[in-house]
Amino acid sequence: MAPIAVSTETYTSTPAEQSRTLKLRGPSPPERVSSPGRNTLPGPLAYTGLLDKYPHFESTPAIGREFTGDLQLSALLNAPNADALLRDLAVLVSRRGVCFFRGQDLSPEDMMVLARRLGELSGRPKASNMCIHPVSEYTPELVDQPKPQVISASRQNKGGGIRRVHDDVSRWASVAWHSDVSFEKVPADYSMLKINQLPETGGDTIWVDCYGILEKMSPSFLEYLETLKCTHDANFFHAEAEKMGLKVRDDIERGNPLNKGTDLSASHPVIRTNPVTGWKALFVNRGFSKRIDGVTKDESDMIMNYINQIGMHNFDHQVRFRWEKGSIALWDNRSTWHSATFDYDEERCGDRASGLGEVPFYDPNSELKSHGLKREGVKF
Ligand code: SIN
Repeated sequence: MAPIAVSTETYTSTPAEQSRTLKLRGPSPPERVSSPGRNTLPGPLAYTGLLDKYPHFESTPAIGREFTGDLQLSALLNAPNADALLRDLAVLVSRRGVCFFRGQDLSPEDMMVLARRLGELSGRPKASNMCIHPVSEYTPELVDQPKPQVISASRQNKGGGIRRVHDDVSRWASVAWHSDVSFEKVPADYSMLKINQLPETGGDTIWVDCYGILEKMSPSFLEYLETLKCTHDANFFHAEAEKMGLKVRDDIERGNPLNKGTDLSASHPVIRTNPVTGWKALFVNRGFSKRIDGVTKDESDMIMNYINQIGMHNFDHQVRFRWEKGSIALWDNRSTWHSATFDYDEERCGDRASGLGEVPFYDPNSELKSHGLKREGVKF
């Protein structure tokens, strides 16, 4: 798929695209125009290089870019050419998986604005808003005024998180690999975390490049995975919330009309197309993905085990970030997993902002990242 520039007009599919859509397996992508879950980009976006003038290095060949100097995200947000800069930022994050920024002065409120703008400028469905986690503070104004989520180790240790501290689950650190709210019908696109307090040592975060790990598979096995869907299920949050005296937020739309009700589960393609890059990525994660649909339990266990192993063992497709106070990490949940290292007893806290993207879909015309980079003639 050749990258093309974004159009701001409402997109109407051509007959050729409609017939291509008809050839897709399963129900995705949803209807081109009217679905509250459809990304509105007519095709992948090109990175125009506007951020390359700021000092940076690629954290690893596969994933991550760290800006080392004087780039303030607040300045990008307020620049006269903010739309062009932020669109390029969205594309860069989608390509590199995660970007890191040191010494940021961005306020929690502006983190929300930035996460929203990144999604809007990269074709997020109009119905998608900021992510509201099902275990969120019970405030009636949350829908109109979504707030940044506060990450706090002392609070996480009481429960309500992906480590399921009240449940009989693995205590290995790898239990928490996830992609934000992948159990929702409309999961997250861009997420941002700013750490404000951290232990003397520990408390790093690790990401996995879910585009690149596909290259470890044989073409025939990948082709098989492309036919599959997987159920993601976070109904364990009901019991976690109850033990903490809370209630799951089933009273409101959690950021998109499709994300509502008590059932915290969704079936998504195992291989997902990121509409911003046009690249295919693995979209199954240890924290929330439960069952490969339409195969026996034994086959599902085998496939899930393989998928968990491929992400965990391939450290050439991982990046680990050591935080400093004021650091920000900004990532694309459609093509990465992440997990904190949970190796600290002291307080570690920060602010988080996440936006919701589209209903995940697999487009058979999407390509492997390596093929896309080769076609473009670039290394990253
Ligand atoms: C998260 O899991 O979404 C936050 C990651 C972290 O606390 O490092």
